[in-house]
Amino acid sequence: MAVDDLSEPILPGPGASDYERYLRTDELLSLQPEPEKSAHRDELLFTTVHQSSELWLKLAWHEVEEATTLLEDAQLGAAIRLLRRALLCLQFATGQLDMLEQMSPWEYQVIRKKLGHGSGFDSPGFREIRRVTPALGQVFSALLRERGLSVVDLYVQGREHEELYQLGECLIEWDERLTLWRMRHYKVVSRIIGDEVIGTQGTPVELLGGLIKQKFFPELWDARNRLTELAGSAEDT
Ligand code: HEM
Repeated sequence: MAVDDLSEPILPGPGASDYERYLRTDELLSLQPEPEKSAHRDELLFTTVHQSSELWLKLAWHEVEEATTLLEDAQLGAAIRLLRRALLCLQFATGQLDMLEQMSPWEYQVIRKKLGHGSGFDSPGFREIRRVTPALGQVFSALLRERGLSVVDLYVQGREHEELYQLGECLIEWDERLTLWRMRHYKVVSRIIGDEVIGTQGTPVELLGGLIKQKFFPELWDARNRLTELAGSAEDT
């Protein structure tokens, strides 16, 4: 029997090796402006951060959407597993914003001229996150209703509803991590282009600061207020 030469590619498609064919690295690595043809050499840094952010955001919203479907089928453990992945995606997307602060604010103005009316409001990843997140909140509320629990009940009786409690914590962390991304993004934007200017699509940067207050799951945050009140009134009696 002939022995396969393991160094030879066997997958179809372009690329010198199976690694390059499977991951389509030729295509992927041709998507960034080549430094020698760029308006500024830091375009490579700028597009690398944006494109990789889009990949992490894509993985995040896919996992959130799938988790929501699993929850509709009351598969809490499986959903929590996917939500933990989505949380990590946001952590990575937030962490890599640091790289943008390695650009000079003056030199960035050269890159900015090439962006047209391009704006993060049109980020496909963030748009999908805004689309899938409310459904996650709705399915969580439905699970609470089925068990006759309020959010406060869930936290007071957490040990009796372990998986649902863990799910609630995943949801508030999702909300928190989206806010942390927004806070970090706002500071990066302020540091690079300023906090009193208008964005490439006409949005004042100040408005980005306002979005930090937005909550996807306000009832989960408000439950903390109720718990503190509850603990206070219990002490008074
Ligand atoms: C130098 C780096 C960056 C600058 C100067 C910048 C600037 C801005 C500005 C000015 C806005 C307001 C909308 C407008 O353009 O008029 C905005 C929004 C936004 N940007 Fe960026 N941005 C940067 C990096 C990034 C990165 C790496 C991402 C990753 C996907 C991103 C995603 C977004 C999103 C999602 C919004 C909408 C904000 C929200 O819904 O909270 N931006 N950005």
